[in-house]
Amino acid sequence: MQDENVFVVTIDGPSGSGKGSLALNVARELGFHLLDSGAIYRLLALKALQQGIDLDDEQQVAPLAEELDIRFEAGDELSIPFLDNVDVSAELRQERTGDAASRVARHPLVRERLLSLQRGFVRPPGLVADGRDMGTVVFPDARFKFFLYASPEIRAQRRYKQLKNMGLSANIAQLQADIAERDERDQSRSVSPLVPAEDALVVESSLLDLAQVTELVLSHIRDK
Ligand code: DC
Repeated sequence: MQDENVFVVTIDGPSGSGKGSLALNVARELGFHLLDSGAIYRLLALKALQQGIDLDDEQQVAPLAEELDIRFEAGDELSIPFLDNVDVSAELRQERTGDAASRVARHPLVRERLLSLQRGFVRPPGLVADGRDMGTVVFPDARFKFFLYASPEIRAQRRYKQLKNMGLSANIAQLQADIAERDERDQSRSVSPLVPAEDALVVESSLLDLAQVTELVLSHIRDK
């Protein structure tokens, strides 16, 4: 069970909804730790890709989740992810890794084995956790739960800008198709599907910028 004295804020939503940037802003403002749970699924996917494992085979992927050697180090802006002591920042954000992450994330055994790893991020004074099932499964007792939504068109545009800024090539039509496919897979899986927790505040962010969404979330927290 969760330590009642540690304040947990969950932010869930589909890929490209802006929940990662929102979680970073909220964590900074509150002085809390941050868990980017998508990065954990991405690190596992990278490991599976490196080993040439069939991503759709639960029996092959699940053992990797058990012995995953990962850590995050503080960076200038974002934290730096390490897999087996190697900085994998560049590979981690690639579309191919996100797609592979969505495939390994479908397996119930994998999700179960990553639970304690994710819960281990809870530390005083608090944690902001972003992902797909933070409010529903990983931190059901969280003090505040948010679900960030944005239309697939807006998300594809945001992702396009993000990739361009990182100097990576991108095609907007392809991104939109990939987002639709990933949404379908994340929403329809049998365990921990992407759905808002019953007690989550759903924020429609298509017409809001990051500063506005951050303010909305922070004022909701401060009001309580
Ligand atoms: O948030 P992201 O795009 O980095 O996540 C990559 C994939 O990982 C996503 O398509 C589904 C999976 N994921 C998940 O199943 N549960 C989470 N809590 C976070 C990510």
